[in-house]
Amino acid sequence: MKICVYPGSFDPITSGHMDIIKRSSAMFDKLIIGILNNQSKMPCLTTEKRLYYINKCIEKYDNVEVLSFEGLLVDFAKQIGAKYIVRGLRALSDFEIEMQMSAMNKRMYPEVETVFLMTDTKYSFLSSSMVRDVGRFGGDFSGLVPDEILGELSERLVQTN
Ligand code: PNS
Repeated sequence: MKICVYPGSFDPITSGHMDIIKRSSAMFDKLIIGILNNQSKMPCLTTEKRLYYINKCIEKYDNVEVLSFEGLLVDFAKQIGAKYIVRGLRALSDFEIEMQMSAMNKRMYPEVETVFLMTDTKYSFLSSSMVRDVGRFGGDFSGLVPDEILGELSERLVQTN
């Protein structure tokens, strides 16, 4: 069984993430979304909230699950039996850090393969931090985050202003 992990901060999940989830879930038997639970990154949304939002967005996928993890991604991947990591690439600017992370992960866990998917061009400008900014100042981010969470998330981001 080919198990893949899709790690990230997902603070919050965006339509760009959903595009990667849709495409990679069709490539693997099981896709596990791994939310990094890292307080030093000062997330805007708690891990519990991020789990809740992602769960709402993945209801339609039978082979997709979401969990949170602390520490090294490779340890989490081993724990869940994942031999694949998927990451989306938006632009050349993503490439350098992604290359370093995949090399480091391969060094620590040689059996793991990182698979990169090019983000759909309609989301190439999109990031969680932009969604946070737009939301905080009351802007409209319909289309930028999954419809399933649009209403709740708009309220939440304005509250955290
Ligand atoms: O959505 P993000 O913030 O770009 O995701 C980054 C993430 C979570 C994939 C990365 O920071 C990570 O894997 N962190 C866990 C710590 C780790 O394993 N570091 C070594 C790999 S370089």
